[in-house]
Amino acid sequence: MIYNSPRGTEDYFGEEIKYRNFLIEVSKRLFDLFNYSEIITPHFEHTEVFSRGIGENSEIVNKEMYTFFDKKNRSLTLRPEGTASVVRAVIENKLYSENLPLKLFYIGNMFRYERPQKGRMREFCQIGVEAIGSNSPSIDTEVIWLLYDLFEKLGFKNLVLYVNSIGCSRCRNDYINMLEEQLLPVKGDLCEDCISRLGKNTLRIFDCKVKTCREVLKNVAKISDNLCESCQKHFIEIKSLLDTIGIKYVHNKNLVRGFDYYTRTIFEIISSDIDSAQNALGGGGRYDNLIKEFGGPEISSIGFAIGLERTILLMKELGIRIPASCKPENKTYIINMDTAYDKYIFEILKFLRDSGIYCDINFNIRNVGKEIKFAQNNDYKNVIIIGEDEYEKKNIIIKKLLSYSQEEFSWISDKEKILNFLKKME
Ligand code: HAM
Repeated sequence: MIYNSPRGTEDYFGEEIKYRNFLIEVSKRLFDLFNYSEIITPHFEHTEVFSRGIGENSEIVNKEMYTFFDKKNRSLTLRPEGTASVVRAVIENKLYSENLPLKLFYIGNMFRYERPQKGRMREFCQIGVEAIGSNSPSIDTEVIWLLYDLFEKLGFKNLVLYVNSIGCSRCRNDYINMLEEQLLPVKGDLCEDCISRLGKNTLRIFDCKVKTCREVLKNVAKISDNLCESCQKHFIEIKSLLDTIGIKYVHNKNLVRGFDYYTRTIFEIISSDIDSAQNALGGGGRYDNLIKEFGGPEISSIGFAIGLERTILLMKELGIRIPASCKPENKTYIINMDTAYDKYIFEILKFLRDSGIYCDINFNIRNVGKEIKFAQNNDYKNVIIIGEDEYEKKNIIIKKLLSYSQEEFSWISDKEKILNFLKKME
C-alpha cells in the first residue's frame, strides 16, 4: 500500500528546501534590521479566536476552516492565518505593557480548506509581521515599506503594490449602506455568489472576478472617495510618506480584503509577471478594533503576511536564483575507494568539517568515474580521492574540478596548505 499526502499538502525536499531557507533567512535579516522580534504561537486555537477575529461572515470562517472537536468536546481550529493568534497571544501574555509599538514577526504553517490549485494549498507557510500599538500613518508606511523591501531583496522586479483605505467602522458603515442602495436596483446583474454577499459581506463583491459583476462595480461609489476626514488624512499621509521613500504604489480603489478585522489601510503586493488569480504574493492591513474586541486595551495595529510557497513558485518561474553567496563555497567531495580506509577518511572529514570546509562523501563505495561525475553535477569544486597509494603514504591528492589542476599534500605535515588549497578559487 502506498499512501499519498492529503490533497492540497506537499512534501518539501532538495532544491525546494534551499529556496525556503533562503526566503526565511532574507526575511529574518530584514526583520532584524527593522527591529521585529519573533513570536511563535500554537498551530491550533479555540475556534472562536478565528470566528470572532476574522469574522463569521468571511469566506475563510464560513468555508475554509479545519475545525474539530477534541476528546473533551472543545471546538478547536487549525490556524488559517496568523493575525488573530498573535493578537490572542499579545493579550494573554500582556505584551502590550511593554514599549509600544510591539513589533513581532512569525513564520509558520497555516491551513485553509480551499480548492487546491497552483499557488493555492490547504497547508501553506506564511511569513508575517504585526506592529501592535500605534495608529500613526508612519507605522503603516514602515510596514508597507518592509513588505516591498522584502520582495526587492529577494530579486523581484515587476512588483505592483496596491494600497487602499476602507475607512474606520463609522465611515465604512455609512458607505456600505450607500453601496447596498446602489447595488439593490442592479442585483439581477450580479452573480449568485455576489447576491448572497449583498447585505452580509457587501464589500467583498469588489473581489468578484465575474465580468458582469465587474461591470456593475464600475458605476458604484468607491469607499476611498467616501472616507471621514480623519481616515482621509491618514491615507493621504501614508501615500505622501511612500512617495518620500520612493516606493511606487497604485491606489486601487477596488481593493478589499477577506478579513473583517481590517480598518483604514489595506494593501497587497502582486507580481505583474503572472496572469493568475493567485498572483497576490502578500497582503495586509490595519486593524484598530481587534485587540479591544479580544478583551485587550484600545490599541491599533497593522501587519502583513506573505505566502512562502507562492513566492518560491514565482521565483522559480521568473528564473530568480538563490545567490551564490548563500551556497557553500569550495564544496569538497571525498571519494573513498575501499572501506579499509574508513578511519583515515574519518580523520580527514573531521578535520575539514572542524575547519569550516563544506565536505561530503558517499559511504557506499562506487566507481571513481561515477563519483567524479556526481561531484561535477552537484557543484563540488574540489575532489579528494583516497586510494591505496594515498592511504599507505598518508597523502592526499586534491583535484580542482574547474581547472583540472591537482596537488599532492602530506596529511601529517601539510594541514594548513591543504586548507589554503581547498579555499583557492580556481
Ligand atoms: P492573506 O492575504 O489571506 O492575509 O494571506 C497572505 C498571503 O498568504 C497571500 O498573499 C498568499 O501569498 C498566501 N496564501 C493565502 N492563502 C494561501 C493558500 N491557500 N495557499 C498558498 N498561499 C496562500 C492574511 O493571512 C493576513 N493575516 C495578513 C495580515 C497580517 N494582515 C494583517 N496582519
